Amino acid sequence: MTNYAVILAAGKGTRMKSDLPKVLHKVAGISMLEHVFRSVNAINPEKTVTVVGHKAELVEQVLAGQTDFVRQTEQLGTGHAVMMAEPVLENLTGQTLVIAGDTPLITGESLKNLIDFHINHKNVATILTAEADNPFGYGRIVRNQHGEVLKIVEQKDASDFEQQIKEINTGTYVFDNASLFKALKNINTNNAQGEYYITDVIGIFRENGEKVGAYTLKNFDESLGVNDRVALATAEGVMRRRINKQHMVNGVSFVNPDATYIDVDVEIAPEVQLEANVTLKGQTKIGAETILTNGTYIVDSEIGERAVITNSMIEESSVADGVTVGPYAHIRPGSSLAKDVHVGNFVEVKGSSIGENTKAGHLTYIGNSEVGANVNFGAGTITVNYDGQNKYKTIIGDNVFVGSNSTIIAPVELGDNSLVGAGSTIDKDVPANAIALGRSRQINKEDYAKRLPHHPQNK
Ligand code: UD1
Ligand code: CA
Repeated sequence: MTNYAVILAAGKGTRMKSDLPKVLHKVAGISMLEHVFRSVNAINPEKTVTVVGHKAELVEQVLAGQTDFVRQTEQLGTGHAVMMAEPVLENLTGQTLVIAGDTPLITGESLKNLIDFHINHKNVATILTAEADNPFGYGRIVRNQHGEVLKIVEQKDASDFEQQIKEINTGTYVFDNASLFKALKNINTNNAQGEYYITDVIGIFRENGEKVGAYTLKNFDESLGVNDRVALATAEGVMRRRINKQHMVNGVSFVNPDATYIDVDVEIAPEVQLEANVTLKGQTKIGAETILTNGTYIVDSEIGERAVITNSMIEESSVADGVTVGPYAHIRPGSSLAKDVHVGNFVEVKGSSIGENTKAGHLTYIGNSEVGANVNFGAGTITVNYDGQNKYKTIIGDNVFVGSNSTIIAPVELGDNSLVGAGSTIDKDVPANAIALGRSRQINKEDYAKRLPHHPQNK
């Protein structure tokens, strides 16, 4: 049997109080819509149709090339949204999963189970439901005395008795495809919100004597529908626990998993140690036995094995095995640190490659530079890469020693094995093996200090 999927993502999400369409709000680094899309892929749909409307172009960008899109120009309700998929799906044989784009926690596993349940029970419609401690706001599953599903009633339409029902509609369903679009022709807007509800097709099937059922999730967590930022933070928390647990199972140590923030696509090798308040974002990879201490914040970067990153920020860069960074260092985009590099406190590196075993221990800025191996940067070294208009490159060979508080004005090249005297301002190339002194000579005036009032002799 062939599977199809419809993802509802046309709504504005008024309760988010946001310019961003609701489904584009992120949970653990990717949009809710992408979470839903990834889970949907677990059922291998032959065709996925995403219904977009509010800020459609923006929403389409996120899944461009991965799904069909249909437009719902006016948001007249979830039932109306599904109708928009009719031109793409009508006349197809198989079952259609309908899922809301604001339920980021539903897993692919649960969707597979839902489809299996639907097929095994030969249902025309199967609702994914859950037991909620606090069902407020969700559609309720109304069953008869035999436990058979009769209909779904929305919060705003529910009687006092129906409001007591704890079994809720997750907003995910599987339908026989042809029956779905037939039933949709019979829904109306006679309800508290004046909308076309997808949920109404359940009652219609039931009245026509067709078989409907419900597959109930074991865990309510998965069914969370995000309508406001309170729920968004709840979703983030659930996702965080899920992600961190998986890393722990894989052999990663956490001092405090509740305070460690890892995006879904981050990869971490075994034997990595994470202290609290570590944040790993985007497409970040961490190699085995690396230690990340409290406060480390890494975005879209690759860190090698046995590295130690102490309370530092690394963005869009690569850091090789054995590198030590920090405390309080900032590796900015486009940098690469080769094996065993040491970048110490208050060092900033930007758009630079740094060769093996090079050390910049303290208070240094290295920008737009190509630095060789075994270079030593004294404290306070600055590469001057910017004249207010253009950026220029600094090239530093292997085994160069840059004395403290030197200013290297680009474009400039320091040859292999050269040495820059402390306090120099270098604006000419330094040949290999040379010593460059770019500072005024020191003058000592014998006994002059005795003339000054501060001298003990004059007090
Ligand atoms: C819906 C269900 C409710 C269920 C809950 C689960 C209906 C009538 N109610 O309510 O039973 O418990 O989800 O989270 O379906 N959308 C469109 N076009 C529209 C309206 C909505 O694409 O015209 C999209 C939204 O972008 C959203 C999804 O459909 O992704 C759900 O809409 P929402 O308004 O959040 O429905 P709920 O009130 O939460
Ligand atoms: Ca919702």
